[in-house]
Amino acid sequence: MKILGIGSALPKKVVSNDDLAEYMDTSDEWIRERTGIVNRHIAVDETTTSLSVEAVKRALAAAKVSGEEIDLIIAATVSSDYIYPTLSCEVQAAIGAKNATAFDIGAGCSGFLFALGTADGYFRTGRYKKAVILGAETLSKMMDWTDRSTCVLFGDGAGAAVLSAEGEQLKAMTQGSNGFEGMVLKCNNRPVNNLFRPLGPQTYSFTEMNGQAVYKFAVRTVPGAITKVLEEAHMSVDEVKLFVLHQANKRIIEAVAKRLGQSMDKFPTNMEKCGNISAASVPTLLDQLLEEGRIQAGDKIVLAGFGAGLTWGACALEW
Ligand code: COA
Repeated sequence: MKILGIGSALPKKVVSNDDLAEYMDTSDEWIRERTGIVNRHIAVDETTTSLSVEAVKRALAAAKVSGEEIDLIIAATVSSDYIYPTLSCEVQAAIGAKNATAFDIGAGCSGFLFALGTADGYFRTGRYKKAVILGAETLSKMMDWTDRSTCVLFGDGAGAAVLSAEGEQLKAMTQGSNGFEGMVLKCNNRPVNNLFRPLGPQTYSFTEMNGQAVYKFAVRTVPGAITKVLEEAHMSVDEVKLFVLHQANKRIIEAVAKRLGQSMDKFPTNMEKCGNISAASVPTLLDQLLEEGRIQAGDKIVLAGFGAGLTWGACALEW
């Protein structure tokens, strides 16, 4: 397969660490030092669907592909606007992709990598030729805004890619899950509540996280996943031009860089301006790198995601 075009979209409202400090007992220094995050975009008038449609239209324009040519749409999200219909079906309608099969997947912050792996598998059946994959979140609505240990970390946004089954860009891919430790990062859905088990009116649940457990998981798992795809792709770690990692936290990325024996110059970041946008972070960062001309034909690039589930995914690409 080959990535033909990338697009992204962020909400207009930018919220700085200092802005948050006006609402809760936190500081720019605490957030910046522990996470690298400075600003995040927060949806006010935007929705997961509106951001997705904007990102997908940009990706289609970059790829010079029409909606009608798309035969597969996979949206990775944990914060869609509807339980059903799915986000991917809403995107299908918005871009006129009448020939597409569309479905959502949930793999937390690894979502974009999981969508890429799923599209690759569909391409290998020979039944699909051109796909849109996207990661899109409005995690701000999943936050308890009185819990300073989680709400300062996340932001909203969407990133999308148009893929063709024809091409040799994807050299190796790995994905994994560890449901045994899944409860360290969770958000409850509706509980069982019906005629036979009435619970009465329910309030929403919000994100709960054991930050240190997630940190340890990421630092333990991501270097191994990257090493595995590099071995399968017959690429040396030094040959890799850029490691485009999920943007949860700068300290996680620094620890991964150290374990791989690589300089932080090869690990671009955008958590400074976006915070953690979950499934949207990898494609959004890729879009920015392409726009800055930092990725050229022939470059060897590693993508990696990790997050709720727990899940992780990594792939090696030759652009
Ligand atoms: N501002 C100021 N103080 C805060 C704070 C905030 N936003 N959030 C927590 N604190 C306080 C805590 O209350 C605690 O105070 P106490 O010692 O008086 O109890 C202190 O800071 C340390 O809290 P702790 O949770 O131990 O901090 P930490 O060093 O583990 O850093 C994270 C917290 C969340 C930054 C860190 O665990 C982390 O980055 N984890 C990974 C999370 C992640 O990336 N998740 C998404 C993965 S997809």
